[in-house]
Amino acid sequence: MNFKNLCRPILAVTLIVTPMVWADTKVALDVEHPGSQINKNIYGQFMEHLGRGIYEGVWVGEDSKIPNTNGYRNDVVKALKELKVPLLRWPGGCFADEYHWQDGIGPRDQRPKGVNTNWGGVIEPNSFGTHEFLNFAEMLGADAYVNGNLGTGTAKEMAQWLEYMTSDSDSTLANMRRANGRDKPWKLPFFAIGNETWGCGGSMTPEFYGHLYKQYASFLKTPADNTPILIASGGTDDRLDWTEELSSLDPVFAYRIEAISHHYYTVPTGVWEKKGNALGFPEEEWASTMSRTLHMEEILKKNLAILDKNDPEKKLGFYVDEWGTWYDVSEGDPGFLYQQNSIRDAVVAALNLNLFHQHAERVQMTIIAQMVNVLQAMILTDKEKMILTPTYHVFRMHTPFQDATYLPVSLTGNPEYKLGEHSVPKISASAAKDKDGKIWITLVNTNPSDSEIIEVEGKYTSLVGEVLSADKMDAHNTFEAPNTVTPVVFKAKASNGKLRLKLPAKSVLVAELK
Ligand code: AHR
Repeated sequence: MNFKNLCRPILAVTLIVTPMVWADTKVALDVEHPGSQINKNIYGQFMEHLGRGIYEGVWVGEDSKIPNTNGYRNDVVKALKELKVPLLRWPGGCFADEYHWQDGIGPRDQRPKGVNTNWGGVIEPNSFGTHEFLNFAEMLGADAYVNGNLGTGTAKEMAQWLEYMTSDSDSTLANMRRANGRDKPWKLPFFAIGNETWGCGGSMTPEFYGHLYKQYASFLKTPADNTPILIASGGTDDRLDWTEELSSLDPVFAYRIEAISHHYYTVPTGVWEKKGNALGFPEEEWASTMSRTLHMEEILKKNLAILDKNDPEKKLGFYVDEWGTWYDVSEGDPGFLYQQNSIRDAVVAALNLNLFHQHAERVQMTIIAQMVNVLQAMILTDKEKMILTPTYHVFRMHTPFQDATYLPVSLTGNPEYKLGEHSVPKISASAAKDKDGKIWITLVNTNPSDSEIIEVEGKYTSLVGEVLSADKMDAHNTFEAPNTVTPVVFKAKASNGKLRLKLPAKSVLVAELK
């Protein structure tokens, strides 16, 4: 972890050297039996044409007073580079199935204006299109994931988009790309055929979609050295029928299926009509948020069991390409899905990441929704102002886990945090070994009130990293007070051969074990 690269000074230092006589919870790492590589794309980001996610959030245009480089705002780009964003998904979401790529190329002042029927009915200027997205991914050094339009587009339109992006030939479409300012094709590692085809993407059954998938995929032809992984649009929440159907499609000539997506959002109340507030919520909603987040484990296990049955050779990836908290909109246009982000979101992010690490063999991509100004965002902007959210800090603290090797972790002790009908383990943990041989551990305390004494078993003599915690359950950063929730350095040293630490209430710790 490079502390020099942090966006702001670390405000305080927690140094724990005091011997603690007992530990409530013991953590043991199995370094002898490493698991799979944690694909860096588990830390993927989503940018949809939704609210201020792209326009204002990322793209302000070259003539904006907001400092920018080629139209991309400088402050946001700098913050995202520190996150080492590995993967960017675009243009949606529900937006993808109404997006016609030819509207977003050529001179910006001549692009057609559409209506964003999914998100607020606002005018879509199409000034952020294929070039702006793929150049942005390159600027960040991120893999590009383009979501194709199955709902209202044709197989021809989809095939031509791929040709436009990836062909180095003398074809009319490749030359059109060159005329629009891009000589060489972009790298396109991921392409999806539709989004949420059970809902906004066309209200289909898995069987109907399966047929369409095969039809469309048959025509997606790309150069051998620039062939994207093809992603089938899968299920949501507890539905298993999509994974079942898509993982058992008959293999036929020409079509490929390499990954199945799945979406699961944490809605505190579990009721979409009244999801709960981002701030000022009762402890009951803290507890329900924790338990609904950890429900991801059951979703993963059940879907992965289906895949293990239908695809024992493990050719198919399971991509959770939309996850995160979804609250009632706190301000602005209800269609813009803008919500504040508190220490609760930080804990939610870390719990999910621990689960994804554990299942890294099949779960090779996950994408939080969404990157800027939408749902569980990394970054919030208000015109020229920008703040980093607690979720951003969790992602930045976890960068050593990208492409590291998972190390199994077992917990003993570990009391439950209980409130009303909700009960979750107080501590969640995961560990990994990075390419330099350093061992990293994440510890998460789901209890909003009580700290926990934890012993890390083994011959470790110290631990150094960062912890993110806060005084209140809904502590958050604002444009006036941007550092209310910010990580602090955390160190612990072994005493009498035991490495013990006090993990604060409602916290996320990421540290190197030495
Ligand atoms: O992320 C917001 C929306 O949630 C996406 O557009 C859609 O895929 C999902 O329902």
